[in-house]
Amino acid sequence: MTPLKFGIIGCSKIAKRSVIPAILESKFAELEIIGSRTSEKAKEFANEINCQKFGTYEDVISNDDVDAVYISTPIGTHEEWANKAMSAGKHVYCEKSSTYNLESAHNMVDNSKQNNVRLMEGFMFRFHSQHEKVLQLINDKKIGEIISFNSIFGFPAFPENDIRYTDKIGGGFLNDCGCYPICASRMIFNDEPISVFYSRQSNDPKTGVDIRGTSIIKYKNDKIATLAYGNGNFYQANYEVWGNKGLISLDRAYSVPPEFVTKVNLQYTVENNWDGRREQMFEIKPNNHFLKMIDAFCLDISGEKKSVFNFEDELLNQARVMEAHRLSDKSHKEEWISDIS
Ligand SMILES: NC(=O)c1ccc[n+]([C@@H]2O[C@H](COP(=O)([O-])OP(=O)(O)OC[C@H]3O[C@@H](n4cnc5c(N)ncnc54)[C@H](OP(=O)(O)O)[C@@H]3O)[C@@H](O)[C@H]2O)c1
Repeated sequence: MTPLKFGIIGCSKIAKRSVIPAILESKFAELEIIGSRTSEKAKEFANEINCQKFGTYEDVISNDDVDAVYISTPIGTHEEWANKAMSAGKHVYCEKSSTYNLESAHNMVDNSKQNNVRLMEGFMFRFHSQHEKVLQLINDKKIGEIISFNSIFGFPAFPENDIRYTDKIGGGFLNDCGCYPICASRMIFNDEPISVFYSRQSNDPKTGVDIRGTSIIKYKNDKIATLAYGNGNFYQANYEVWGNKGLISLDRAYSVPPEFVTKVNLQYTVENNWDGRREQMFEIKPNNHFLKMIDAFCLDISGEKKSVFNFEDELLNQARVMEAHRLSDKSHKEEWISDIS
């Protein structure tokens, strides 16, 4: 297939560290142009990664050679730039969280349909093969019937001037890292939740944005997900899937460097007593989930291979569960997904 040509909107840390290297490595993608709010930064960034073309965000969007745009600006600005790019006929790979409210998620997806372009939210972790192993163990009934999914994602505090501390541009850590375990619970249960009860644990004392929280998400058949996230914590990015006959756990579930060997740990029982407990560890070879996601995006768009995730449906379903968290934050009550359209 002819590689998809990417334009970059926003010279962000994540673009430089992970996404641009993956675009450069992909057989199905090419880097065309870098866009920044300031020409000096665009030039400097383009030089560093050896890209010949650079300019403003508008230059990226109006460039006829660009097929797809990667947006990694603050969350509160995603809708504006995604909509501008899609209206100009570009496919969009938008960083997570795609939005900070459900209305703008609907607006973005409607826009993608009207313009006949694709729109993907960048939850790259779903493309790491460690989760395929987990799903295979679940399908093989290694842990019996699933009862719950429990997950934590948190890390040491971001520096004071980080975008995540500014509420009006979509800051806060539910949007930034709480969204991962939410998305993972949907992927592992292969279902959408019934209800959400969210409790905000702490706010940043200077800016007031949420920095820690916990939620209980109910799924059909009495399945439940318990999740916690936090900024200013000891690093953890784990999940476990608890069944009536065993437990699967991962300790590096979300942010996995491409050279990292991950481990899927299975505990199970052969007899219903302490002596009957067994443990098995599966080492997962390093793989680059950013590269795999970009490949999946390009292959789906070109019609070569359908992605296992429907990009737009996934974005909307995730946005609905995020919205339930915001409603529960206000009401201090369990919020029902069926009440949220
Ligand atoms: N998938 C992942 O693993 C992952 C990891 C980290 C972050 N993210 C997501 O990626 C996005 C960027 O995160 P980051 O940590 O890389 O951010 P960052 O380094 O602060 O970069 C954000 C960029 O957005 C642009 N921007 C536009 N409007 C801005 C404004 N009002 N204030 C500040 N910057 C503005 C700036 O680029 P210009 O100056 O060039 O215009 C800036 O460099 C967020 O949506 C975040 O949730 C994803």
